[in-house]
Amino acid sequence: MKQNQQLTDVIKPFNIVIFGGNGDLSKRKIIPALFHRYADNQFQVPFAIYCITRFAIDEVAFKQEVESFIQCENKKKVNDFFKHLSIITIEKNDEQHYQLLKTELESTKERQRIFYFSVPSDAFSEICDALNQTGLINTSSKVVLEKPLGHSLESSKKINDIISASFQEQQIFRIDHYLGKETVQNIMVLRFANHLFERAWNADNIESIQITVAESLGVEKRAGYYDKTGALLDMIQNHLLQLLCLVAMEPPSSLNPDAVRNEKLKVLQALRPFDRTSIKSDLVRGQYTRGIVNGEKLNSYMEDIDAYDSETETFVALRTFIDNWRWKNTPIFLRTGKRMKKKYSDIVINFKELPHNIFQDSKYPLRNKLIIRLQPEERIELVQLSKIPGPGGYRFKPISLKLDFMDSFQDRMPDAYERLIIDVIRGNQTLFMRYDELAAAWEWIESINNIWKKETSLILYESGSWGPGDQILSGNVKWQTDK
Ligand code: BG6
Repeated sequence: MKQNQQLTDVIKPFNIVIFGGNGDLSKRKIIPALFHRYADNQFQVPFAIYCITRFAIDEVAFKQEVESFIQCENKKKVNDFFKHLSIITIEKNDEQHYQLLKTELESTKERQRIFYFSVPSDAFSEICDALNQTGLINTSSKVVLEKPLGHSLESSKKINDIISASFQEQQIFRIDHYLGKETVQNIMVLRFANHLFERAWNADNIESIQITVAESLGVEKRAGYYDKTGALLDMIQNHLLQLLCLVAMEPPSSLNPDAVRNEKLKVLQALRPFDRTSIKSDLVRGQYTRGIVNGEKLNSYMEDIDAYDSETETFVALRTFIDNWRWKNTPIFLRTGKRMKKKYSDIVINFKELPHNIFQDSKYPLRNKLIIRLQPEERIELVQLSKIPGPGGYRFKPISLKLDFMDSFQDRMPDAYERLIIDVIRGNQTLFMRYDELAAAWEWIESINNIWKKETSLILYESGSWGPGDQILSGNVKWQTDK
């Protein structure tokens, strides 16, 4: 019962040090997540948050900005929370500049130390060196790493070597915020706590699996990062593959972190690599051009990044296969894009058509569909055929049975970061990636990345459209774009 112990572990006193403390992620997600856990009285222990910045910043303006993302009307609660937060400016990663942080952390030696690296991964090495020189890493320390961890298998290995020279694997938390989303966690419950679906969860019964993460926004203020990364590495390599792992993995023997991660790893290892033929037939990469949405004129990607030339993709759609017993020859469609018609993410499980139709009505094929909607609403829908009431034979049509999370569970939906940060504090690694998972994901991604720019061309799509995926990939399965 080790895993249950871990899940219910009490929250021990902690200091969390956020490198990149003044960055967007820290202000929008990390600090607000800490606030909401605090406001829910989950931190009944001494704790402190240190935001590390490169340059001196205006503390009042910083807190005001963070407060705008916290969105809480209880000013007193917010102000009490801010008493736990300090800003430390560290201009250089060396022993001398780390003295102030050292003094702070040493004065509360008994607390666990969580180092949150919310900075580009090329800064990890210097930070680790400085933490080591200053003697700040101990056995109760943890490190949280934000993606992207490198830009290739080789560079991710280098980063991993640097981190593992200072931290043991059980101290390392590689975060993928999709795994903290409520509906994503619910995939585990849906599959492994219900009898109904698991029996039919295989190639005999399922015709295809389709995962879409569509965003309406463009690259916004992240041009520098995004143009070096693109949709394949920004979304498919992590978020979409992690969703696929949860949908396709074998039942783990327990919720023990390694039991779950072993099963996810097997899915990644069984993904069929792309080759020169499949890359042409089974993959589309696109980039958004100008468009008009609700009367508003939207820029092209090139205008957004202020460049004349870029081959970076903002859209990827692909068909792949998991070569194992359960999923043999079941097409898996993955699709993600920016500046699409609307923001929505879902996982659609298309069941096979029944072998024989006893009804005269043949308008609708006899098949079911399970839709796990991740955003904007969090909902599960089972599409089934139902008789249309009235005399005159058996006429039927598809009807959705809907379980809306907001209707069934009235509480506020916690942000993914809240769940994940609490897990870090508790030391539960179930929802974090182990390095071998990451390496397996990179290996598969490289089968695309190494050849696709030579073998395929970038297709332009209008901002506000559904991108170019349908034309080439849909086969007999249509993307669910009609919502
Ligand atoms: C991030 C990507 O990891 O996920 C962004 O870097 C993307 O480009 C974001 O916009 C999407 O997250 P969510 O939770 O809004 O779907």
